[in-house]
Amino acid sequence: MCGILGIVGKTQVTSRLIDGLKRLEYRGYDSSGVALLDTGELKRVRAEGKIAKLEKALESNMVEGQTGIAHTRWATHGIPSEINAHPHIAGRVSIVHNGIIENYAELRDSLEHNPKIESETDTEIVAHLMNGYLEQGLEPTQAFSQSLKQLRGAYALGLIIDGHSDHLFCARAGSPLAIGIGEGEMFIGSDAIALEQLSKKLVYLEEGDWAILTPDSYVIFDENDKKVERPIVYLENNIIQATKGNYRHFMLKEIFEQPITIGQTLATFMDEFGKPANGFEDIDFSKYKRLFIVACGTAYYAGAVAKYWFEQVAGIPVEIDIASEFRYRQPILDKDCLFVAISQSGETADTLAALRYAKAHNVGTLALVNVTTSTMAREADIFLPINAGPEIGVASTKAFTSQLAALACFALAMSEHTSFKDKETIMRFTKALTELPDTVSETLRLDAQIEKLCLGLSSAKSVFYLGRDMNFPIALEAALKLKEISYIHAEGYAAGELKHGPIALIEPGTPVIVLAAQDPLFDKTVSNLREVSARGAKVYLITDKAGAKIASEMAEEVIILPECESFVSPLIVTIAIQLMAYHTAVHLGTDVDQPRNLAKSVTVE
Ligand code: F6R
Repeated sequence: MCGILGIVGKTQVTSRLIDGLKRLEYRGYDSSGVALLDTGELKRVRAEGKIAKLEKALESNMVEGQTGIAHTRWATHGIPSEINAHPHIAGRVSIVHNGIIENYAELRDSLEHNPKIESETDTEIVAHLMNGYLEQGLEPTQAFSQSLKQLRGAYALGLIIDGHSDHLFCARAGSPLAIGIGEGEMFIGSDAIALEQLSKKLVYLEEGDWAILTPDSYVIFDENDKKVERPIVYLENNIIQATKGNYRHFMLKEIFEQPITIGQTLATFMDEFGKPANGFEDIDFSKYKRLFIVACGTAYYAGAVAKYWFEQVAGIPVEIDIASEFRYRQPILDKDCLFVAISQSGETADTLAALRYAKAHNVGTLALVNVTTSTMAREADIFLPINAGPEIGVASTKAFTSQLAALACFALAMSEHTSFKDKETIMRFTKALTELPDTVSETLRLDAQIEKLCLGLSSAKSVFYLGRDMNFPIALEAALKLKEISYIHAEGYAAGELKHGPIALIEPGTPVIVLAAQDPLFDKTVSNLREVSARGAKVYLITDKAGAKIASEMAEEVIILPECESFVSPLIVTIAIQLMAYHTAVHLGTDVDQPRNLAKSVTVE
């Protein structure tokens, strides 16, 4: 993962590098650093921990320069520490890197003169490689091109050389990188979010591209060192409205934004008659007999809910895969299947690789993403924006419900072509979708009740979520949300599966959260509830009015969700489980917006 930024200019750049780094912190926050060049020597300051720590370090040791590179790290090779923080320096070369150099050990062993290696990182080896070529007398351009040819793996690189203060080198293979064009200065950054305050004119490097920037020019080469032109993309609006407002955390703000963000998504895909018809014009529905949905983490669970929708509403069989599995399991694809990638960031390395796999097999590809400037948005044949707005909290909330809303529209649009379900049912489902923003608002009113209940949850060692049908993937998402921000061990299970093994984990007092709102298999779920309750579990039931009437006595606590069609109920249950995870984490005092070991955009595999 990691975020990188660079400026080559004619004025001092440190403060702008730090501002840009803060916008990239969502990519990792284990350590950060800057390296600066002016007419004097290469200078560097690094710090373990968040960027605030780097700012502190700069207070006592300010470094300035007209050219600089900066980095925020999510550790891969080597523990989070100052010594492993980027930029790395070897001789005259300083480098920042996002990705993983797979052959770094081989390269390290091949380095001549046995240089002193300071860190445990793969990145430092690249700096030594480049410095070695410079010492052999190669010109910087040649040395950079030679170095790149030795690298295997994924990288976005930014590099500066002592004595060449008006040059910034960069390269991209497998990890995203863009150039920002300025007036008398040029920029590089991991994404548009980092660059938008510096420049609205971006050029995205393509796979294998590398470039040399000076304050007044940039030249791009492809992997064969041939000069190439890449299109300029103009950023329109502010991508980020990154303030918490009156909320304690971004995550809470984003949870409470959902009536609006779901509304935005629905407005994207529904026409003026409330029919889910917009944005799907480029899909030749008659061509596709099967869908492959591929994603990671929370986005995968959105796909898992959508599988029920596509199959039950449109009669289209769906295969769903975790991207890191899909890309290597050699899935059998043919012309009548449509590949659907779901990704908030549009940059997740495994999902992107899966998309490229599908493209290479001549399958139609569609990307459902939030970040419209992302690589997936650019590379897929068809791109559907969920329009949830920037999501800053590392734990995905509003992007998930917008992914669900978009996928529900997609399934309904597809049902028009398959006529699998009767028109009346489709109209009922469509109406329920249009009412979603109100139903979500109503659900958010349960916040205080949920907050209270979480006091009990926060002392749990382990929590289980159970659900059937579409509540099963929501149970998985609920467990993920709880574990990632509260660090409590949590598992989601298909309610019927528990007795096949996991029930052995239930002890007196173990919290089991049963998701059974608008549950088409309610009676069966209640039987599973009884099974855990009989073994002493402390049951929390999330249900609707009718469910509460039947099963209240069997539960320690009951949350009654507003009435809605079962078609949209996964979104409503989601609001409750998000609030649960959030309040439990707050009770425990964890870093809700930037939980340990995580990053918002996972650009390594
Ligand atoms: C969990 C979470 C992650 C992401 C996953 C995929 O709250 O946010 O599981 O969903 O890393 O990220 P995207 O959607 O950007 O591909």
